Amino acid sequence: MSKTELVTAPRPLRLPDGRPAGEAWSLDPAITHLNHGSFGAVPLAAQERQGRFRAEMERAPVVWFPTLPQRIAAARVEIAAFLGVAADDLALVPNASAGISAVYAALPRRRGGEIIVTDHGYGAVTMGAERLARRWGGRVRTARVPLDADEEQAYEAVAAELGDATDLIVVDHITSATARRMPVTRIGAEARRRGVPLLVDGAHAPGLIAAPPADVPCDFWVGNLHKWGCAPRGTAALVARGPLRDQLHPLIDSWGAAEPYPDRFDQQGTIDATSYLAAPTSLDFIERTWGWDTARRYMTDLADYAEQVVGAAFAELTGDTRPVDVGMPVPGMRLVRLPDGLADDRVPADRLRDRVAQELGVEAAFTSFRGVAYMRLSAHVYNTAADYEHFADACVPVLGEWARAAAQPVEVSP
Ligand SMILES: Cc1ncc(COP(=O)(O)O)c(C=O)c1O
Repeated sequence: MSKTELVTAPRPLRLPDGRPAGEAWSLDPAITHLNHGSFGAVPLAAQERQGRFRAEMERAPVVWFPTLPQRIAAARVEIAAFLGVAADDLALVPNASAGISAVYAALPRRRGGEIIVTDHGYGAVTMGAERLARRWGGRVRTARVPLDADEEQAYEAVAAELGDATDLIVVDHITSATARRMPVTRIGAEARRRGVPLLVDGAHAPGLIAAPPADVPCDFWVGNLHKWGCAPRGTAALVARGPLRDQLHPLIDSWGAAEPYPDRFDQQGTIDATSYLAAPTSLDFIERTWGWDTARRYMTDLADYAEQVVGAAFAELTGDTRPVDVGMPVPGMRLVRLPDGLADDRVPADRLRDRVAQELGVEAAFTSFRGVAYMRLSAHVYNTAADYEHFADACVPVLGEWARAAAQPVEVSP
């Protein structure tokens, strides 16, 4: 879509029996849900499947647990097919953080101990890279990628930081705060040429991108199934190819330790792994009901509409009518600019999220990049145009009041 074209709202998706798509979830209808991206939302079909697995586990735990590794291996096959990778390349982990931590724990320093990250990286992942670099006696080098960088510019910004001392590159497939893609395929090709391992943080990619790790030449790729894939939390995939993968061990070191990768990840002591087992139900539910391609098209069209409606409402407050250009956009997420003073850093952004939930009944995401605050809009299949229209009409004016109040000079008594 050209950013100047006026977008019409897509027709809401329906279930096969004609009910609104949202009725397949248990989201509270009294709350407006505009932030699928942070923690996802699980359809009832998968909640029920997970419940049935739990009931089976509770009926006879001693029978259940010995069967768990085989059950997890079977779930891996289905999840690998969804992600377009070989089941032998994929291990299941509780979340993206766990997969990334397993990679950080496994890698040896080989050259100068430098780790390349970008300034769009997820904070917790970048902090982990900093700790690893300290352990290696090296350092983190941060590639500064302009928000609106296209593929070439983003690639050049990362490539400029690579050198003989580089031991690892960590780059997002889809960034969290800025809701944009990074050119991971090109970065992967260059990493291969230099013999440097690449870790792709694809936390947001499953569901938003078809078969996200399939064509990315990387040693390690991690993605959350419980975000856009709507799997029960926490379910994430760690995909590892190449010789380094044999060094990967789960964070919970258990009886599988002597098994090869990825089988050793199927045994992690006594845990409730029912989320892994029910994850394929979520993926299948969306495929059978609408098809993932249709779902992604709907999410994109609705996100474009959301950006237009909510962006226009904020523009009335800020006077800035330019849409936010993120260079390489994704389906399902858009940024709109917030008025100054509301949330220009992570802590005030989180405080604003909590206040909006408590006082306005809206689940929303607020982010910041280089001191500029944004609302990150998410659109999944259960969202409709009315969600964003409600926010624009009823909530944006209130945020305007909050911004004005925050800008009032504080009176100091002499
Ligand atoms: C880009 C990115 N990386 C990593 C994570 C961490 O995911 P989790 O909390 O599921 O480990 C997130 C979560 O939002 C993310 O957006």
